[in-house]
Amino acid sequence: MERVSELEAFRAACDRARAAGERVGLVPTMGALHDGHLALVDEVKRRGASFVVVTVFVNPLQFGANEDLGRYPRTLAQDLEACEARGVDLVFTPDDGAMYPPGFQTHVEVEGLTQPFEGAHRPGHFRGVTTVVAKLFGLTGPCVAVFGRKDYQQWRVLERMTRDLNLPVEVVGHPIVREEGGLARSSRNRYLSPDERERALGLSRGLRAAAQAWAAGTRDAAALTEIARGPVEDAADSVDYVAVVDPTTLERLDGTVSRALVLIAAHVGPARLIDNLELGVDPLPA
Ligand code: PAJ
Repeated sequence: MERVSELEAFRAACDRARAAGERVGLVPTMGALHDGHLALVDEVKRRGASFVVVTVFVNPLQFGANEDLGRYPRTLAQDLEACEARGVDLVFTPDDGAMYPPGFQTHVEVEGLTQPFEGAHRPGHFRGVTTVVAKLFGLTGPCVAVFGRKDYQQWRVLERMTRDLNLPVEVVGHPIVREEGGLARSSRNRYLSPDERERALGLSRGLRAAAQAWAAGTRDAAALTEIARGPVEDAADSVDYVAVVDPTTLERLDGTVSRALVLIAAHVGPARLIDNLELGVDPLPA
């Protein structure tokens, strides 16, 4: 496995791989890698990638002024070990100055899909995500890139960007990887004390309650929303949203629904946690 921090060396390594006939697969991350990230590495190989690139870059552009950029976990030595053990070929670890040199003034912005939910609670967040991912696509030239459905709206936004800009990349969304007990794996889980970790299960409990109601035949969007909301409100310090939406457009649903995604964001102690489940499609959180 090779590790590269310079942009031109990274681009050259990806160019060489493509010239040698490799199918380049990309997994963008902000590091602090866990089993959720590593499942994306497996997925990109399953999608035929013969040269697997992981990027580790804590992208300042996607953090708001009051967010956790300064204390975001950085565990590069372990990340590199984990990548090597998983069969990654190339890890790109640029620094802020290389990605955003003086004079940088171009951004990529997806409009409607970025407005609700994470976009409403984190102004500028998606603009930072789409800008950095467009840059990573440009530097890497991947055939396929895998993202986690843990960040469901992010995945949909990146699909939209790729389609709208005709970028020659297949964007894949991989199911959420959970801890035993149901908590969605997240680099931010390490902010949680044992008590907070227990309360964080309120999110997956809400999803499980909605999924059980769905399995028992409930199809009313308002009823499903309230069923999901109960356990979240009981456990979290504050709730940003609990919503039942169309899985493709992310529009809020009402009345009787035939397809539905439950989206949750809530604060537990120092962590802001998100989770989601597509009713009737995703497995029950353990
Ligand atoms: P990060 O939070 O490090 O996540 C990197 C990728 O791992 C994302 O696609 C995310 O959805 C996925 N992921 C995280 N936890 C997961 C889980 N429990 N199950 C499945 N997938 C999971 O998301 C970002 O970084 C950044 O916004 C990035 C796309 C790298 C742009 O900076």
